[in-house]
Order: sequence, then C-alpha cells, then structure tokens
Amino acid sequence: MSNRLNTTPNDLRAFWMPFTANRQFKKEPRLFVGAKDMHYTTHDGRQVLDATAGLWCVNAGHCRPKITEAIREQAGELDYAPAFQLGHPKAFELANRLVDIAPEGLNHVLYTNSGSESVDTALKVALAYHRVKGNGSRFRLIGRERGYHGVNFGGISVGGIVANRKMFGTLLTGVDHMPHTHQPGKNAFTRGEPEHGGDLATELERIVTLHDASTIAAVIVEPVAGSTGVLIPPKGYLQKLRDICTKHGILLIFDEVITGFGRMGTPFAAQYYGVTPDIMTTAKGLTNGVIPMGAVLVSSEIHDAFMSGPEHMIEFFHGYTYSGNPIAAAAGLATLETYKEEGLFDRARDMAPYWEDGLHSLKDLPNVIDIRNIGMIGAIELDPIAGEPTKRAFSAFLKAYENGLLIRTTGDIIAMSPPLIAEKHHIDEIFGKLREILKSNI
Ligand SMILES: Cc1ncc(COP(=O)(O)O)c(C=O)c1O
Repeated sequence: MSNRLNTTPNDLRAFWMPFTANRQFKKEPRLFVGAKDMHYTTHDGRQVLDATAGLWCVNAGHCRPKITEAIREQAGELDYAPAFQLGHPKAFELANRLVDIAPEGLNHVLYTNSGSESVDTALKVALAYHRVKGNGSRFRLIGRERGYHGVNFGGISVGGIVANRKMFGTLLTGVDHMPHTHQPGKNAFTRGEPEHGGDLATELERIVTLHDASTIAAVIVEPVAGSTGVLIPPKGYLQKLRDICTKHGILLIFDEVITGFGRMGTPFAAQYYGVTPDIMTTAKGLTNGVIPMGAVLVSSEIHDAFMSGPEHMIEFFHGYTYSGNPIAAAAGLATLETYKEEGLFDRARDMAPYWEDGLHSLKDLPNVIDIRNIGMIGAIELDPIAGEPTKRAFSAFLKAYENGLLIRTTGDIIAMSPPLIAEKHHIDEIFGKLREILKSNI
C-alpha cells in the first residue's frame, strides 16, 4: 500500500483550510509545530508570542502538564464509552464542576463537541422546552446583526455576518435580528463598557410587537460579540434584554463560547454583568482548546420541564456520539483544576487594567480609528484602505507573524485575547511590537 504522506511530504493541496485564504496561505505557509505556555514554535524555528490564546481558547496557556497528563492517562484507561443510555464517571464529575462555577440556577449540562454544536443544541432545547410546556407556537428565534454563533445552520441563521449566511439558501425560517450595538461615532476609544447604546435593547420590544411574544422562543446574543471585532455591550444593555425576555416569557441564551472560562475576570460574562441567562453555551476554554468539547448549561426550570412521561422513554431526542467523551471530560476536569489552582480568573481580573492601559497607549498611531477593551479582550479598529477592505488589518497580521506575534484580524479590526497566564512583560511585548507594526506603512 502506498503511503501518500511519505511520497508527498510537503504537499499542502489536499487540506481545504477553514476560514482561510487558501491560495495565499499555500504560497507562504504559516505552520506551528510546537507550543509552550505563551509561545508557539513555527516550522522555521521561530518563537511567536500568542496574543490570541490560539482562537480564544487556550486560556491556561499551551501544553500545560496537568492537562496533557490527564489526557494521556485517560486514553490508556477508558478511551470511549457510548454516550447514549450509558455513561462514565468523568462526564458527571465535569458537569458538577461546571455547575459549581456557573451563574446561580444553571444546574444542568448537555455536552457537545464545539461552539457551533453548543449553539444549535441551545436553540433546539429552547424550541423543545416551549413545546413540552404546551407553547408550541413559540417557534421564532431572535439573533442580532454582527452576531457570530458558529457555522451550523442554526448558528448562521441567528448570526448576523452576511458572508457566513449569503451562500446557504433560506437558512432557518422564523428568525429575526436585533440591531448590533456598535456605535463608533459615539463610543470610540471607550475603556470598558460604552456609555451610549443601552437603549438599543428596546429594539427587542419592537420585534416582540411585530411578531407577538406568543411566537418567540428565544433570544440569543454573545454578551461581548467577539468574531465581528469585539463589540462590547453598552451600559445597561444586557439587563434590559433580560428584563424584556422575562416580561414576555422568552428564553435568553448567552453564547459564552469566547467569554467563558475567565476571559472577563469572572467564570462567565453573565457573572461579570450580573445578568443570568436561561441557557448558556460554552466550548473553547472548557478544555483549554486541547480536545474538542462544548457544554450547554440550562436552568432547572428548563431541565425539569422535560422530566415527565414514562421513565423508560428518552426525554430529549438530541445528542452526539462524542457527547461527554471520556478523554474530553478528563481534559475538561484538568483544565478547570488548572484555572482554580492558579487562580487564573482572578488573575485576569487583576491584569485587565494593565492590559487596558497598554492597548489604549496605541491610540495616537496612524489609521487607528477606535480601540476598545473589556476583561482580557482588546480590539484595535483600523481605517480600511479605500477600495480594499480587510487588507490593512491582514497586512498587520502578516507583519506581526513575521515579527513573532500572533494577533487575529476580522475585517479591519485587530482582536486580541491572550492566555490568562500572560505576565506584564508579555503585554509590554505585544503592544511594543504592535506599535512598530502600526507605525510602519501598512
Ligand atoms: C460566540 C461564538 N459562538 C460560537 C462559536 C463557534 O465555535 P466553534 O468554532 O467551536 O464551532 C464561536 C467561535 O469563535 C464563537 O465565538
């Protein structure tokens, strides 16, 4: 049998890469071959400082021994257990640990393998909940412009990024969108929560009036919208959404796939803002990005509504072959222990002001039209090159990579979210390098 890997060792053609400019990449590949703590090692032997925690997921830093060891041990002890009608201890243990750190009242956990699956699971739970409660007319789902909820059909339907939606037909029906909250004209260079825009939450009232509350199942938002360039909720906005949902019997879903696990200096953004959703989606930082896993947390009220009928019957017809996979569960437990032992959520809270100062020190650089931050998240919005949107930020990304710094760009916005183990000198290095890059003619 021929081994094509051996005969074509450097052939990059077969892998159609996700969310990537494939032709550009394959001309000038950027490959990581190793990682430790705050750094990646590239295929050409350079160190790259990680200012993005991989893809917003490696919150405890790279190749942490406790997590690596837990995976190794679990793989040798119990590799897989069927997820339906059978279980294994660590999936239950991890669910309990998650409930321990979750906002009060979110007491039950459904497992998934990704953020996208968490979102679609949450939407299905919401629809089914209303149905089991005898409110089957509540079928509408409300998302938000510029929202990102992964790439599956539910997620792109409630999401608000045109490029992610326009190719895929009619999507889910019965979906509407609230306006996004980005108001750079009023809020540019705000530190933390913007002053203006809290009232945009009342747009939900307008949507409720249009469709009638009796047709609406759920509203889904990212507490902080990450993928469209770090859009921080204006003061009072999330609480207003909560109040409107409660008033009309609509479930509120927080998509905490990037805001979860310490990114805001609290376990979840819900606790940071003091606003509790009915359903919360997570993934990424749950296993420190090491093994694919997501989790959806739901209130007791929702869970208990399903627990009726004959006891031998399945209560909710949904789940994945790998829901609560043993190795992922072991990674999740070791990750939560690492966060706890090292006090990483508090550390993020304490480091956030330093992060904020460093970020805003770039305010006077050419083409910088906005800087915004919350917790250990920061964004720099650049003036697009006329007629060539996204090019300026992508050039910054390429220059940063050449200069040993990993940033992420979306449109003409640089978004950053370093591992929560970042020291002050790492933060100085991130903004020192960025200063040089933005000063140069990009
Ligand atoms: C808020 C949010 N939801 C969902 C997702 C999708 O997660 P995944 O890529 O694991 O499917 C992401 C990914 O960035 C996200 O930021």
